[in-house]
This record gives sequence, structure tokens and C-alpha cells, in this order.
Amino acid sequence: MQHDVVLIPGDGIGPEVAEATRRVLAASGAEINWIERHAGLAAIDRGADTVLPATTIEAIKKYGTALKGPCTTPIGGGFSSVNVALRKTLNLYGAVRPVRSIDGIKTRYTDIDIVVIRENTEGLYSGIENRITEGVVTSLKVATLEACERIARFAFRYARSRGRKKVTAFHKANIMKLSDGLFLDCAKRVHEAEFNDILYDEHIIDAGSMRLVQNPSQYDIILCENLYGDVISDLCSGLVGGLGVTPGANFGDDHAVFEAVHGSAPDIAGRNVANPLALIASAVLMLRHLAEKTGDESLFSARERIRAAYGEALSAGEKTRDLGGELGTREFADALIARMR
Ligand code: NAI
Repeated sequence: MQHDVVLIPGDGIGPEVAEATRRVLAASGAEINWIERHAGLAAIDRGADTVLPATTIEAIKKYGTALKGPCTTPIGGGFSSVNVALRKTLNLYGAVRPVRSIDGIKTRYTDIDIVVIRENTEGLYSGIENRITEGVVTSLKVATLEACERIARFAFRYARSRGRKKVTAFHKANIMKLSDGLFLDCAKRVHEAEFNDILYDEHIIDAGSMRLVQNPSQYDIILCENLYGDVISDLCSGLVGGLGVTPGANFGDDHAVFEAVHGSAPDIAGRNVANPLALIASAVLMLRHLAEKTGDESLFSARERIRAAYGEALSAGEKTRDLGGELGTREFADALIARMR
């Protein structure tokens, strides 16, 4: 069965890791028909008048599933984030970022298996900022009952569907009593009313961060509002080998966009040194999603083939530079393809 998927290579290291991912998927036996669309600086380079062209949004709406490379957002001034705009436009409210210890990547801990679930549409990412007067600015943190309940329900449902035991909400409701207070109230209420089979607890984010680096295995699913989820997922990725290995997915009720946690890495772009594993692993998440959506069981085998290939390659020392190896982006993809059975 062929599956239509929108491919957005992005900019910076995006096109390199997207090409590697496309080749690895082709070798896995997954039959994907890629519909290529652009966003970010790559869209402007191709003559679009906006970083998020309507043709890109329309394609995701039509086909339902996309694999996306990173898009640069300028710091300070310039255009606002393509990534945030895409998530809001398509109402991709639930970000899922699984962080697992990976065979062949040596880190301080060997037993990490955490999923960070991040609210993707509001909080401080609402983009509502004001210059009150010279030298005084405000950024508005927005929390709505609807979005807080929705992400809590999403996290507990995810836990139940994956046989996970516990959801821990990270918050700062001691200081942000209203916004984080609402986030916690919703999580508590949804848990009590609908998900008694799952354990639930709450950690203040500062102490939670300390616990994460000291003893990460105490966490199962971490539920966060937008900004906390952004920061905590990068922290967690550092526990398992860094941004080069951590996948992600953004889910709404109708569409799903799969993308790595990392950004466009302008410091290494265009040099064939980026690790494509984070996007490859995001594509592995995508294969499960497509399999569940369409009933195409062969995608589960493709997924296992890719996982086995990168597990074996990494264990054999076939790694990119960020993991202490010597392979380039293309050569790492070649190594996985050579190990595909
Ligand atoms: P970054 O994730 O791009 O890079 C941080 C560090 O990690 C850099 O040293 C980079 O070389 C390294 N790194 C990242 N991915 C790697 C990979 N696959 N292989 C090897 N090394 C890797 O974060 P940074 O520098 O904060 O952001 C750069 C740009 O990316 C910014 O414009 C930012 O807004 C954007 N960004 C986009 C995201 C997206 O499209 N979803 C997510 C995060 C940032």
C-alpha cells in the first residue's frame, strides 16, 4: 500500500537530514509517495512571498501527514517562527517527544524511557508582546481551559494507549498561580474523572529539572505547557545522546507533523556532518502512525527494520561526529541501508 506524505525539508541542515531519511525509508520497504513542499527560508529561496506558503498548509490538510525538517527563526527581530505558526494553523496541539536510551550510544544512564508531552498552541508562545514604553516590554502567557484540558486528556490517553503508568505535570503554579494553576487544575480534574488507571503527580519545574538529571528513571510521561516542554525536551535529549538523536511528533485531531526536536543548526549546515538519526527516528514514529491509521501492517516491519539497522550500526561504532564517530550525514544513511534486512 502506498502512503502519501508531505515532505518539508526545511532549511539549514534540514535538506541534508531529509534526504538521508528519505533514502533510509525507501530501503526499509515502506512505500511512501513524498509530496514535497517548502517552508521557512527554503520557501523564500524558491520565490514564495511568505515563510509558510498556503500551498504547504493545503498539502498537509489534504494528505494529513507530514515529515518536516527544521526551519530557522531569527533571534530578536525578523519574521516570527514558522514552526509555531504551522502548529497553530493546523491546531497541532500535542507535541510528543520520546526520549530513550539507545543501543550503542554511551551516556551516563542506560535506562531512560521518558516521553515529554508539550502543549503546542499557547502559553508564552502566543506571540503577544508589547512595548509599554521605552525600556519596558511585556510578554503575555495565555492559558485557556480548552487547551489545558485538551492536552491533559491527550497525555493520559497517550499513556493508556502505550501501557505507560504515570504522568507527571511540570509547573510553576507557586509563582504563576493563574496560568500554571489552570494547567494543573485541568490535569488533576481530567485524571480524577477519566484516568484512574494511570498514576498522576506534579513537580515544580525547577526541582523537577534537578531530579531529571539526578535520577531520570523516576519519570515516565512528563506533561508540560509550551515553553517548559520546549526546554525540558532538549534537556531530556541531552540525557540520551543529544539533539542529533531525539525525535518528535506534533498531533492534532486531523493532522500530524513529524519532526526532530533539533533546529536548523546553522553552525554545521551544508557540510554533510549533521546527524540524520533524529529525523529518521521521527519518520519511524510516523510509520507507526500511518500503520495505525491505515491498517497497513507492513509498516510495522519497516519500522523494526530501521530500528534494528541503527541499533546495530551505532553499536558497531558507525556514528556521526556529534556522537564521537566519523561518518557524514550521507555515510550514516549508507551504513543503515547496508544493514537493512
Ligand atoms: P539547534 O538545535 O539548531 O542546534 C543546537 C546545537 O546542536 C548546535 O550546536 C547544532 O550544531 C547541534 N545540532 C542540532 N541538530 C543536530 C544534528 N542533527 N546533528 C548534529 N548536531 C546537531 O538549535 P539552535 O542553534 O538553538 O537553533 C538554530 C535555529 O533553529 C534557530 O533559528 C531556531 O529558531 C531554529 N529551531 C527550529 C526548530 C524547528 O524547526 N522545529 C526547533 C528548534 C530550533
